[in-house]
This record gives sequence, structure tokens and C-alpha cells, in this order.
Amino acid sequence: MKREILTLLRGGGYVSGQDICRSLGVSRTAVWKGVNSLKEEGYRIEAVPNRGYRLEFAPDVLTEAEIGSLLTGRWAGRELEAHRHIGCSTNLRAKQLADAGAVHGTLVAADVQEGGKGRRGRVWEASPEGTAIAMSLILRPSFAPGKAPMLTLLAALAVRDGIRQTCGLEPGIKWPNDLTLGSRKGCGILTEMALEAEYIQHVVVGIGINVNQTEFPEALRDRAVSLRMEAGRPFHRAELLARILEAWEGYYETFQQTENLAFVQEDYNRSLAGLNGPVQVLAPDGGWEGISLGIDASGSLLVRRPSGQVEAVDAGEVSVRGLYGYV
Ligand code: BTN
Repeated sequence: MKREILTLLRGGGYVSGQDICRSLGVSRTAVWKGVNSLKEEGYRIEAVPNRGYRLEFAPDVLTEAEIGSLLTGRWAGRELEAHRHIGCSTNLRAKQLADAGAVHGTLVAADVQEGGKGRRGRVWEASPEGTAIAMSLILRPSFAPGKAPMLTLLAALAVRDGIRQTCGLEPGIKWPNDLTLGSRKGCGILTEMALEAEYIQHVVVGIGINVNQTEFPEALRDRAVSLRMEAGRPFHRAELLARILEAWEGYYETFQQTENLAFVQEDYNRSLAGLNGPVQVLAPDGGWEGISLGIDASGSLLVRRPSGQVEAVDAGEVSVRGLYGYV
């Protein structure tokens, strides 16, 4: 109900109580209660006799109503579970929902996430309330499991686009799964997959974004940055989240048809941090250094060895570090 009221008010201008009642098929009292409940949550909604209601201000909250009313797409986030505080990883919660039959595109979002997971068994630290986005999207693709790692690269592009649009910032992408601002990390992506025989049962794409933090704990200070720290002003997280999902739908739908990354290869490489620079490849059987040449159409990173030989480095198997600093 609150989500539907907000959706109607998002059009801007006044919406009469009668129109809201008619659109939603509810009583005046129900609308009034919904509006009051929104006001209690921090929304400023002006009510003018004979004109109706007008949304003046929406708080920076990651609620079902706030996120849902900002979505413009067809399927990503249409089913959504929003937590003010979640005691486990949103990826884990998404997996539970997927195992219980949640539809393609279901989103789990959290304001504060305890138990967040990073790649390679690392911890994704919780941030203070009102500062970060933790989100996990459930997908039910029909392509082969080997294609799934490419989703991480598409997610990075969707987050980049959302940040560009909402914040006017230009993040870099640290292949395969981080977004950078300057030489520090502003976003991490963790894609997990459940298989059934040789088919994908579901994929969970988990995204953590540092949005409005003004500082980080000592241990992260050199490596972490928020959008706010970079731009010098705070951002509305649900708006950013909605723009990311909008971009995501476009990328995902093309990928479903092509099942490769040729359609974004050039674009991805333009955003790639450290392109044509030295990188260290950390492989399980030992590390080596080379020059990053960008991704190929399967999402592997092409790295030129000192001998001149070019290797396609697979995201699933190795990670790459810039030789100088975090990037
Ligand atoms: C990394 O940088 O290693 C990946 C970090 C991914 C963090 C996000 S936060 C939302 C989702 N839930 C998790 O537990 N992890 C991802």
C-alpha cells in the first residue's frame, strides 16, 4: 500500500485523494493511514484541500516501499525483500528464498548487513546504518554454468551506469568484480551459483556499495572509499539501487541472447582500471607479472607476459593486483 501510494506520488505534482483511492481500489481512510505512516517514516507529504497530496521529500531509506516505488524496469526487483538489519549475508538469504522457489529477479536488500561475504572467503564488513547498500539478486538463467562468471562483469557495468547517472561520478572497474574511485574500492560483487545436475538452479549476484560513509575503520582506510567521500555530498541509496537494476535488465537481456560479452567488451575496457598497465596475476600455482590488455568476449583478462605471449586469465581461477597500490 505504501509502495503504491509513493509510486503514484513520484510522478510529481499533486495527486488527489480520490484518484489515489480509485487507482488502488481502497478507501479514503486507508489512503490517509498510508500517508500518515509514510510521514512517520520521515517522508514529507503536503496535503492541500481540493488539490491532493504532493511528495516533498523522501528519506534515504532502503525499505520495500521506497525501493519499489522507484523501480522502472520489468522484472529486476519487482519481488523484493528489504531489511533494515540482517543478521546474515544477503546472498545467503537470497539463496534461501531461491531454494524455496523465489522468482527470477527477486531482490534482497539490506541497510545494515552483518555476516557479509566477500570473494575468496573474505568478510564484507558491516557499515553504519544509512550508509551502504547490500543487495542480492536472484536469477534463473537457462545458459550453461560456465557462462555465469560473466554476470559479475555485467553487474559491474550496471553499477557503474547507476553511479554515473545518480552521482555523476565515473568509477573504474577493477577486473573482475570491484568498482574503484581513484585508487580505492567503492563496490564489491560476489556471484554465487547453485547447480542441479549440470544445469543452473539459480544464481545470486550480490553487490555491496559504499555510498554515504564519511570514514572507514583503520584497517580499511587505505583501500575503501564511498561515493560521498568522492563527491563531497550524500546520495539517495534507493534511487541508485533502482538505476542499477534498470541498467542490469538491459545488459542481462542482451547477454541471454548472445551468451558472450562481445557487446560490452569495448565499453568495459574503457572503464577498466589499469588498462595497458602492469598487473600481477595471482594464480594458485604461482604468480607472474604482465601488462593488462583488457577483457576478451568471454570476460577473461588478456595479460601479455614479458615474453610477448598473451594469456587469457580466467576470473574464476585467479585474481589480479595492480603493482602499484590497490588498483
Ligand atoms: C568482494 O569484494 O570480495 C565482494 C563483496 C560482495 C559484498 C556484497 S554485499 C551484498 C552481498 N552479500 C554478501 O554477503 N556479499 C555481497
